[in-house]
Amino acid sequence: MSTPVDTAPPLVAVDSVTVRYGTVTALDDVSLTLRRGAVCGLVGTNGSGKSTLFRTIMGLVRPDTGSVLIDGASITAARRAGKVAYVPQAEGVDWDFPIGVRDVVMTGRYGHQGFLRRARRADHDAVDAALDRVGMAEFAARQIGNLSGGQRKRVFVARAIAQDAPVLLLDEPFAGVDTTTQAALTAVLRDLASAGRAILVATHDLPGLTTLCDEAVLLQGRVLVHDVPEEILRPETLALAFGVDTTAEVSR
Ligand SMILES: Nc1ncnc2c1ncn2[C@@H]1O[C@H](COP(=O)(O)OP(=O)(O)OP(=O)(O)O)[C@@H](O)[C@H]1O
Ligand SMILES: [Mg+2]
Repeated sequence: MSTPVDTAPPLVAVDSVTVRYGTVTALDDVSLTLRRGAVCGLVGTNGSGKSTLFRTIMGLVRPDTGSVLIDGASITAARRAGKVAYVPQAEGVDWDFPIGVRDVVMTGRYGHQGFLRRARRADHDAVDAALDRVGMAEFAARQIGNLSGGQRKRVFVARAIAQDAPVLLLDEPFAGVDTTTQAALTAVLRDLASAGRAILVATHDLPGLTTLCDEAVLLQGRVLVHDVPEEILRPETLALAFGVDTTAEVSR
């Protein structure tokens, strides 16, 4: 019996993308595909272009050259169809604005609601389930401004989960999150991938890479390596981006 081959086009196809901010080249000829059913880790030093890559996939930064396709369509069409959920590194939200945790997560459901944005049973259920998955159910009635940094992060991950999009982009979702919660979020992401999503996660947690993802990209303006996490974690590979000191720490 032959092995079934996944002939479906990749959910995300980044093709030869170069992004410059003035004289700084943040991304240099980056090509990357994200496939259904896989968590792809994104690692690299500060300033290596991770957030720029997310912003480019989201259409928030226009590449100087190259293109991005989501499920074979433009990012504008994909976003309109609610196909991409994105957790930015820093949420551009005014924390003084009086909005409850539940309402923040419910905004992830807008694409599922009609023009009047009337939340239905399925929307409330999705919000409850997502809050539960990130361990924030008991904070549902709180104001977002009254939460700790890590709790806020979890709420925004819940919002992305509630959106139920085939593509999930998470820019450092574990930053400021405690280890128990990180383990729980990792399990959630693995579940979502198993259910057929394509997931890209930026992280600085190199030791956690093998638990988190099926494959990983080592970025430094350009893609240095795109391989299984074990290959990324080889000291010789890490030395390409981080220098020798970090490799010693990782292989401890
Ligand atoms: N709006 C901007 N204007 C000018 N330069 C920028 C801008 N945003 C990012 N850069 C530069 O582009 C490069 C890539 O930045 P980016 O934020 O993508 O890195 P990163 O890998 O996400 O880093 P970190 O790990 O710190 O989050 C850096 O040199 C940064 O200084
Ligand atoms: Mg970043």
